Amino acid sequence: MTQGGLIARARNPFWLAPMAGITDVCFRRLMDEMQAGVLISELVSAKGLFFNSEKTKKMMRIHKNPGTIVGIQLFGESAEDIVNAVNIVEETGADFVDINMGCPVKKVIKKGCGAALMRDPAYLETFLSTIKKGIRLPLTVKMRTGWNENELTIHECVEAAYQSGCEWVAIHGRTRAQGYEGKADWDLIAEVKHRAKLPIIGNGDIRSAAQAKKRLQETGVDAVMIGRGALRNPWIFKECADVPVERASLELLTHYLNGLLENYDLRSTLIMLRKFSSWLVFGYPGASKFRKSMFECNTADEVMQQAENFFSHVAKLPVPAFEDNEEFMMGGHG
Ligand SMILES: Cc1cc2nc3c(=O)[nH]c(=O)nc-3n(C[C@H](O)[C@H](O)[C@H](O)COP(=O)(O)O)c2cc1C
Repeated sequence: MTQGGLIARARNPFWLAPMAGITDVCFRRLMDEMQAGVLISELVSAKGLFFNSEKTKKMMRIHKNPGTIVGIQLFGESAEDIVNAVNIVEETGADFVDINMGCPVKKVIKKGCGAALMRDPAYLETFLSTIKKGIRLPLTVKMRTGWNENELTIHECVEAAYQSGCEWVAIHGRTRAQGYEGKADWDLIAEVKHRAKLPIIGNGDIRSAAQAKKRLQETGVDAVMIGRGALRNPWIFKECADVPVERASLELLTHYLNGLLENYDLRSTLIMLRKFSSWLVFGYPGASKFRKSMFECNTADEVMQQAENFFSHVAKLPVPAFEDNEEFMMGGHG
């Protein structure tokens, strides 16, 4: 049932979802400190690695002594490209390789990668089996429910992943055609879990720790993955793990900034810090004004000054909820 047993090494069943431009070494380290059960990099191009791009390598950097297992997510046109890339992935100290089969973005689909792989489960089995045979690291996959509502190939694709020896399948409960519209189909995720012979990880629209626990219990999935919910509430994994939380936004920002400065130049640090602070203020009065002010900040110090002002004003207010019907970051690579 558990194939090679990788899942037994997860700290808990509340995992961080991979997010392009976000789940880099700094964000993953922070989420590790927040007790996330498993950490996964953003999608990395196998071809990019093959050509030895420094930027691509940087996306895979892993912090020292992680408290749980860390995976590197790859996408690629051919199984051979991925097998070749895994040689470089191994040098990072990653615990497993995850294949992206959920990306709906045209540029990726056109090459037959991402969600396009779900259109032909028989080919998928060959593709994944070739990778599995060619690498030493454990293999996992992340997919959607299918190409569109008429092509819900999830059951067949999960079986293909099982037959190829994958450790688990993470499912974002939307079709490729849906993008980020509508709601993630947790009934279908539960049905897949019921039939599957390998661990199933459910994903989509989890916005609070209470919801995460409810999904886990109601669907019987082996773990849940949280993406955007962790941007709005970086403490969510501690809440899931019932660890007491003190929401000190400014301290958190300072800590994140220090991590950025260790890893990036000032320009990249500024860009990432602005993004992170904008997520933290969502839902509070004055948040949109704050977000606009970020564009006028030219240094990290200026961002921190704005943040200090902002959080001193909202300190006494209740923490804003991330509402179910609220649209937030309606696009991504999976
Ligand atoms: C900005 C952004 C970037 C994303 N990048 C990736 C990615 O690189 N690989 C991937 O498998 N999924 C990616 N996703 C999809 C998420 O992992 C997740 O499946 C999706 O956001 C639904 O979960 P959520 O509602 O908890 O956010 C991305 C999502 C967002 C919002």
